[in-house]
Amino acid sequence: MTQPGAVTVRVPAKVNVQLAVGPARPDGFHDLANVFLAVGLYDEVTATPADSLRITCSGPDADKVPLDRTNLAARAAELLAARYGLAPDVHLHIAKDIPVAGGMAGGSADGAAALVACDALWGTGASRAELLDICAELGSDVPFSLVGGAALGTGRGEKLSVLEVGGSFHWVFAAADGGLSTPAVYREFDRLTPDAGAPEADPVLLEALRTGDAVALAGALTNDLQAAALSLRPSLASALAVGVEAGALAALVSGSGPTTAFLAQDAASAEKIAAALTESGTCRSARPAVSPAPGATIVSG
Ligand code: C5P
Repeated sequence: MTQPGAVTVRVPAKVNVQLAVGPARPDGFHDLANVFLAVGLYDEVTATPADSLRITCSGPDADKVPLDRTNLAARAAELLAARYGLAPDVHLHIAKDIPVAGGMAGGSADGAAALVACDALWGTGASRAELLDICAELGSDVPFSLVGGAALGTGRGEKLSVLEVGGSFHWVFAAADGGLSTPAVYREFDRLTPDAGAPEADPVLLEALRTGDAVALAGALTNDLQAAALSLRPSLASALAVGVEAGALAALVSGSGPTTAFLAQDAASAEKIAAALTESGTCRSARPAVSPAPGATIVSG
């Protein structure tokens, strides 16, 4: 069989519809009950054979993406190559549409996409379980970027159980100027929450996902990192207020932020909320997106 000349993988962003955070563990991570929902904002990663490992990036935020070995896409190629005794000689091009350092797992998405793309390019024949193992080594959110849909993440978020979703949910995502450092937000959480309890998934929220009930989901959305993100970036409160005023069923910070997420009743309401947010000047840009979305998928090659 001939090997493909280039493989392109499309990968979604995520929002956490519940992010319950426990106390810091001895290894520095936090145990989570992390309900991930993949949303239809996508990066695409194209892997092409090359003389050595090289990363390029295009898109409005391209200048904020590291092009060295710290990029999770590069690390994914290196880990997969090392496991199969190959040289990681590949050009990875990232067409970036997910906000950078925004709390939507954009970096994790690129790691998962690069892994799937290199796996197909090199024909390693790795099993899904092996790919998920490498994802967990790359970062807590990376396994979910591979899987997509909706899932409950426990441990540090990397142990996934797939969740059923009974319909489409309409969202608006407002990108903020600059990113927030995830470790800094967790440190602020520790400072604000010295008595954090054991994290548990909320059965009401899981039922709202299962039945596709946006109003019930809106009532159950929680993010334990929100107070920490707002403490580090108080201006996010203005964006949250504008979205609610414009008709959002609920508003919250996405993951560790600073992207804010607004759950809408339907597509028309999402358009209205996005327009109000853009108009308000409280965010850099606001875009509607639908969930759930599929995980990392080969689109050509
Ligand atoms: O796993 P990942 O590399 O994405 O994590 C980035 C940082 O976020 C960690 O170094 C840690 O500071 C924090 N984190 C955490 N608990 C988690 C996930 C991430 O404290 N469950």
